Amino acid sequence: MNKTITGFSKLSKSKKIDWIADTYFTDSESAKNLIKQYWNSDKKLQQLHDEFIENTITNYYLPLGVAPNFLINDSVYTIPMAIEESSVVAAASKAAKFWSDRGGFRAEVLSTEKIGQVHFTYKGETETLQSFFKILKPQLIKAAQPITHSMEQRGGGIIDITLNDKTDSLEHYYQLHATFETLDAMGANFINSCLEQFAKTLKQEAAKTLEHDLIVIMSILSNYVPNCLVRAEVSCKVEELTDNSTISGEAFAEKFVQAVQIAEVEPYRAVTHNKGIMNGIDAVILATGNDFRAVEAGVHAYASRLGTYSSLTHAKIEQGVFKFWMEIPLALGTVGGLTKLHPLVKLALEMLGNPSAKELMKIVAVAGLAQNFAALRSLTTTGIQEGHMKMHLMNILNQFEATSEEKASLVEHFKTHTVTHSAVVSAIEKLRQ
Ligand code: MEV
Repeated sequence: MNKTITGFSKLSKSKKIDWIADTYFTDSESAKNLIKQYWNSDKKLQQLHDEFIENTITNYYLPLGVAPNFLINDSVYTIPMAIEESSVVAAASKAAKFWSDRGGFRAEVLSTEKIGQVHFTYKGETETLQSFFKILKPQLIKAAQPITHSMEQRGGGIIDITLNDKTDSLEHYYQLHATFETLDAMGANFINSCLEQFAKTLKQEAAKTLEHDLIVIMSILSNYVPNCLVRAEVSCKVEELTDNSTISGEAFAEKFVQAVQIAEVEPYRAVTHNKGIMNGIDAVILATGNDFRAVEAGVHAYASRLGTYSSLTHAKIEQGVFKFWMEIPLALGTVGGLTKLHPLVKLALEMLGNPSAKELMKIVAVAGLAQNFAALRSLTTTGIQEGHMKMHLMNILNQFEATSEEKASLVEHFKTHTVTHSAVVSAIEKLRQ
């Protein structure tokens, strides 16, 4: 069977499905039925989703959960989270409740600068290029006016453009390094349009003025935004840090700080530690229609900014007070992109009180900090599996197609028994005998 095809994107949706089902599935009818089972019966809504990307054949569901009781800078939020991992929302909710009883989270936006670059090569003298750039800079800004005009009216726009000599790293390589304020927009389209206009002006003026060839290689925003930073923090007296009698506040605080210190010095641990933070961050990013790949790339680059991959969070005990905090770069938008298009994104944003991009940065950072707190709390006390497997129980029961009665009985049973895959299998078998 030929598994390649030309002109696929031009086929109708139903022809695409037929081709896929007939080419890749032994039971093509079942494949087609499954694909169609996930279509929305509201044709307009389905069309909206079809048109987000090319070659849409169906919808891919993720649960949208909510974590209530997040007290952030004295306001209470219920945070929407789109994620498949069983324990994440439960952990976030638990951490939210824990900290709401201890003054809540504080969060602050430290900076909001976005970055874009025009990469080019020039074979002439660096000094000539520098003199050329002095005259060019106002021309770059002026030629981009039609793009920047409305952003400027709202208080944003181009912050600065510098010429960077990168010839030490790569022969003949220079860049225009531009910084932007994009307000409530994530700004990718705005920045990339500005950069492409800069590249055009640069090429035109270079052709008129410079003796040597200047070749533009590419123009693109950077997802590394170390000056678009938000800080989230919690603190309380060490003795208030426990809500059970198995471990004292002091002992827990010390173990917790050590767990963070391990992630600060040990990259293997740091990656998993930060992955737990991203469980919270990505879930809110997805629910609010933001670009989680951009955020992931930028956050992990930031975690390695000192030369070794390290923990994003930090903790200390000072004069009897436990402090736990994180600073991360987050380039987010609450206008543009999917925010006005995807009905569930609109719903998620409204649930958060239609936040500005800055407010959303704070909420997202807090979700990440809460997730890390919950993970470290389990890891340093009961171990992660207890809570994780309790939440995973339903997935195992669903794999065995347990009925509602079976589920109710086994959930009850596992309130007092340790959940492992084999324990659940034995319990189901016993129940069914
Ligand atoms: C699992 O998704 C996340 C954790 O591994 C995070 C961590 O180890 O800190 C529990």
